[in-house]
Amino acid sequence: MVTSSAPGKVYLFGEHAVVYGEPAVPCAIERRVHVTATEIDEGLRIHANDLQLDGFTVEYSGDGESHPDVDVAESLVEAGMGYVNEAVAQARDAADAPEAGFEISVEGDIPLGAGLGSSAALVVAAIDAATRELGVELPASEIADRAYQVEHEVQDGQASRADTFCSAMGGAVRVEGDDCRRLDGIDTLPFVIGYDGGAGDTGALVAGVRNLRDKYDFAADTVAAIGDIVREGEAVLETGDYERLGELMDFNHGLLSALGVSSRSLDSMVWAARDADAHGAKLTGAGGGGCIVALDETDDALTALKYTPGCEDVFRAELDIDGVRQE
Ligand code: PMV
Repeated sequence: MVTSSAPGKVYLFGEHAVVYGEPAVPCAIERRVHVTATEIDEGLRIHANDLQLDGFTVEYSGDGESHPDVDVAESLVEAGMGYVNEAVAQARDAADAPEAGFEISVEGDIPLGAGLGSSAALVVAAIDAATRELGVELPASEIADRAYQVEHEVQDGQASRADTFCSAMGGAVRVEGDDCRRLDGIDTLPFVIGYDGGAGDTGALVAGVRNLRDKYDFAADTVAAIGDIVREGEAVLETGDYERLGELMDFNHGLLSALGVSSRSLDSMVWAARDADAHGAKLTGAGGGGCIVALDETDDALTALKYTPGCEDVFRAELDIDGVRQE
C-alpha cells in the first residue's frame, strides 16, 4: 500500500493570455489531494469520500453496503470522469504491468471544480501512488507529462500543461506553450484564497476572450499586456518584493476584468482583500466564479473575506515548494 499526495495551484499571473502563447506563472499551494494505491488481483476499485470532480459528485461513505466500490468506479466512467482510470492506465503502462489490479482511495482538501487544480492533483498523486505500488519510481517530470496526457484524454483535448506540471513539480513554475520550467529560489508566498462556492464555465469564458480578441485590436493588446505583466512579475518574484508583486496582481485582475472574465462575487472578494491592505488580489483560473488569490502575510484579508458577502470559504494556502511526494 502506497500513499502519495500532490498540491493544487493558483495562477499568480497569466491565465487566459497563456492560451495565446503568452507565459503564465502558476504556483503550487499547501492544499493537497492524497491517493492511496493498493495492488489487488484484478480490476479497479475506487473509494472517494464526497469527492466532486468537475460537477460530478461521488458520495461514497465507505460503509461498503449502500454504495459498493465498484458502482462508484462505474459511475465515474459513465460520467466521463475517468481521471483515476486513466491515471491507473498510465501507471500500468509505466510499470509494464498491463493486468495490475488496484484499490484506490482518494482524499483531498482542495475546493473542487474551482480553478485550484484539484483534478490535476488527483491524477498526479494517483500516477505516483500506483507506479510506486508496482515498484517503479518515476521522475516528477515524467509524472507531469503522463498526467497531462490523462487530462488531455479525459477533457477532450481541452487541457494545458500548467496544472499538471505545477502539481508534479511544486513551487512557482513558468509555462509558455509546451515549455514548462520551475522558477528557482522562490520559497514562500503568503497566499490567501477566497472561494465564492461556484465555478465558471471555462470553455465559454475562453471563447468569450477569443471573440473579443478577434473583434478588437485593443482586446488583443490587453492579452499581450497580460504577457508583459507576467514577464515583469517573474523578475519581481526573484526580488521577493511583495508590494510590487501585489501591484502587478491588481493590474492583472483589472485586465482580466476588462476581458469580461471576472464576476460580481470575484470583484467583491478582490476589493475586500485590497481594502484590508493585502499587497494585491486577483481572480485565479478561468474566472466567472470560483476563487480569488490575495497576497497578504497578516490575517487582515483573511478576516475581511470571512465577512464578505458572496465569500463562502476563505483559507490561507502558502506556496508549496513540494510537488508530488510519497507520504
Ligand atoms: O480554471 P483553471 O484552473 O482550469 O484555469 C483555466 C486557465 C485558462 O487559461 C483560462 C485556460 C487554459 O486552458 O489555460
